[in-house]
Amino acid sequence: MSSNKYDINYDKALEYWADIPPTVDGVLGGFGFISDVDINGSQLFLNSLLSFENAPGTNVAVDCGAGIGRITKHLLIPNFQSVDIVEPDEKFINSIEEFVGIDKKSKIGTIYRVGLQEFRPERKYDIIWNQWVLGYLTDEDLTTYLIRCRDSLAHNGVIIIKENVTSSGKVEKDDADSSITRSLKQYLKIFKCANLKRIKQCKQTNFPSGIYPVYMFALIPQGDEDVDKKTLNPA
Ligand SMILES: C[S@@+](CC[C@H](N)C(=O)[O-])C[C@H]1O[C@@H](n2cnc3c(N)ncnc32)[C@H](O)[C@@H]1O
Repeated sequence: MSSNKYDINYDKALEYWADIPPTVDGVLGGFGFISDVDINGSQLFLNSLLSFENAPGTNVAVDCGAGIGRITKHLLIPNFQSVDIVEPDEKFINSIEEFVGIDKKSKIGTIYRVGLQEFRPERKYDIIWNQWVLGYLTDEDLTTYLIRCRDSLAHNGVIIIKENVTSSGKVEKDDADSSITRSLKQYLKIFKCANLKRIKQCKQTNFPSGIYPVYMFALIPQGDEDVDKKTLNPA
C-alpha cells in the first residue's frame, strides 16, 4: 500500500467542512438538486440487496460521514429499525435531529463524533453506508477502516460504498478540502487488501454531465459462504 502520498490532511478537511452551512446544498457542494435522484438510485440498489436469498437484516445501519443526515433521513431510517451516525463536524451533528425531523428522530441510535480513521464500530451492523466520504482517508486508513467494518458486520451484513471515481484512471487531488478522488481500479485494489468481495456494483444514472461518475459497491467478507448465492452486476 502506498503511504500518504497525496498529502491528505485530516485537520484541513475538517477546517473546510467547518465553514460549510448545514444544508443539503452545503453537504453536496452546491449540488443539492441531485439529492432526490441520488437517493432513488441508492434505494434501488438497496432493494436489490434486500431481495437476495441471503439478504442483510434491517435492524441496524450506520451512516458514515453522515453530514446533516441526508442519507439517514431519506434512505436508512425508512429501511432500518435504528441508524447510528458517524460524523466529525460538530455543527452538522447538531443539525441532524432537526433535519431528520421529530417523527423520525427516535430511530437515530448512537452518534459518534469522530473521523472514520478513528471509528471503532461497537455494534454489529446490517448495513454500513459510506457515501462521498472515503476520499478523505488515506489508502492505509481506508484499508484498516474497511477491515474494522468487515469485522463489525452482522450475519449477512453488507458494506455499501457510493463514491465518485475518476475517468482518467488516476487519483485526482482536491486541495480545497484535502480530498482525493480514486479510480475504479484503486478502489478494487483496496477492497482486495481489506479482504472484501464485491457482490454488486452499479453506476448511478441520471446525474448531470460534467461531474465525476458515481459508483455503488456492495461488499461482504471474502470467503463468505453465502456469496455464491448472490450476483455481481458490473456496470
Ligand atoms: C460531501 S459530504 C457527504 C455527506 C453525506 N455522506 C451525504 O452524502 O449527504 C462529506 C462529509 O464527510 C465528512 N468528513 C470529512 N472528513 C471525514 C473523515 N475523516 N471521517 C468521517 N467523515 C468525514 C464531512 O464532515 C462531511 O459531512
